[in-house]
Amino acid sequence: MKKILVTGGAGFIGSNFVRMALSEHPDCFIVNLDKLTYAGNLENLAGFENHPNHKFVKGDICDGPLIEKIINEHKIDAIINFAAESHVDRSISEPKVFIETNVVGTLTLLEAARDKKLERFVQISTDEVYGELGPTGKFTEDTPLSPNSPYSASKAAADHLVKAFGHTWGLKYNITRCSNNYGQYQFPEKMIPLMINNALKDKDLPVYGDGLQVRDWLFVYDHCTAIWMVLSEAPPGQIYNIGGCNEKTNLEVVSLILDRLKKPKSLIKHVKDRPGHDRRYAIEAKKIMTNLKWEPSVNFEEGINKTIDWFLQNNKWLTNIVSGDYQKYYDAMYSNR
Ligand code: NAD
Ligand code: DAU
Repeated sequence: MKKILVTGGAGFIGSNFVRMALSEHPDCFIVNLDKLTYAGNLENLAGFENHPNHKFVKGDICDGPLIEKIINEHKIDAIINFAAESHVDRSISEPKVFIETNVVGTLTLLEAARDKKLERFVQISTDEVYGELGPTGKFTEDTPLSPNSPYSASKAAADHLVKAFGHTWGLKYNITRCSNNYGQYQFPEKMIPLMINNALKDKDLPVYGDGLQVRDWLFVYDHCTAIWMVLSEAPPGQIYNIGGCNEKTNLEVVSLILDRLKKPKSLIKHVKDRPGHDRRYAIEAKKIMTNLKWEPSVNFEEGINKTIDWFLQNNKWLTNIVSGDYQKYYDAMYSNR
């Protein structure tokens, strides 16, 4: 049985990964370590709380003794590090916590993985470490790192640390760099769930700048299957880009959401742009598709329909989030924009 320490498993992608792994791979045991920040939510794990192959631990990835204790107690074979501060806008307002969790937290996990000689350390990174693209071209695994926001700089620092532990101490690692995810349980600070939530309430949809920035969207389930393949099949020391070839401008995505919800385009409001806003991301995912035979299960239109349906059917999940501190965040971020 594969015993995995998943960090950040109460967040968006981590909880989708835990659900996918426990449902499709009965031979794995998961210890799920999460600090339950504003983005961590035990409701994301509803139905899996008491699964016999799942143990949730509330804690911080910066807590070395706790990580050592978990590895010893559960004879952990591998770590998958999802835990992070993940929102670019928050990194512009308050960068420090991004360094604490994304850099110091990753370092703490790496030290434990090295000392305990774990079989594998999988770092969940992002395409944003490559910086931004002009109108053409795609990021490959060999594109030099050139991060532009405090968030992406902290993720790039973590990637360098992971590689350094491999080079210096022979740590067996992989790094995955995925494009923008969307799907069930995504916190409504990110563009797609924020726009769905606002449209449902007939509130303005705040599009940054001209809205012609391009993102390459991937359905979260497909990101999770790719990570599972990397964990189980990839040789150590390999880095994989993950993406679904779904480049869209933000205005195209917002228009699709409005059409699907039968809401008027007049809800779109262009607001002040994000400082240092990266114009375009696009992923070349040939390596993982060829070497590990991974492919996405849905295209963007199918994925966004499933996502909108999920939000319509899980209104209680959304209401619980937006009725808490979220409103303060929203007002601070958007009221004078
Ligand atoms: P998220 O913000 O939804 O979840 C992050 C989780 O980490 C939360 O549950 C939070 O409580 C937990 N966490 C934060 N600090 C912690 C700490 N110090 N110790 C333990 N737990 C802590 O993020 P997400 O969107 O699910 O992203 C997960 C990972 O995937 C991140 O590493 C992110 O950089 C990466 N990524 C995200 C995307 C995307 O589009 N969302 C794309 C590519 C890569
Ligand atoms: O590319 C992968 C990255 O994608 C991940 O590493 C990050 O964790 C994740 O947050 C995401 O970063 P982005 O900044 O691309 O995602 P976000 O959803 O914040 O924004 C998507 C696009 O929409 C971006 O061009 C900014 C724009 N936007 C966003 C918000 C929240 C708006 O126009 N209005 C908004 O209100």
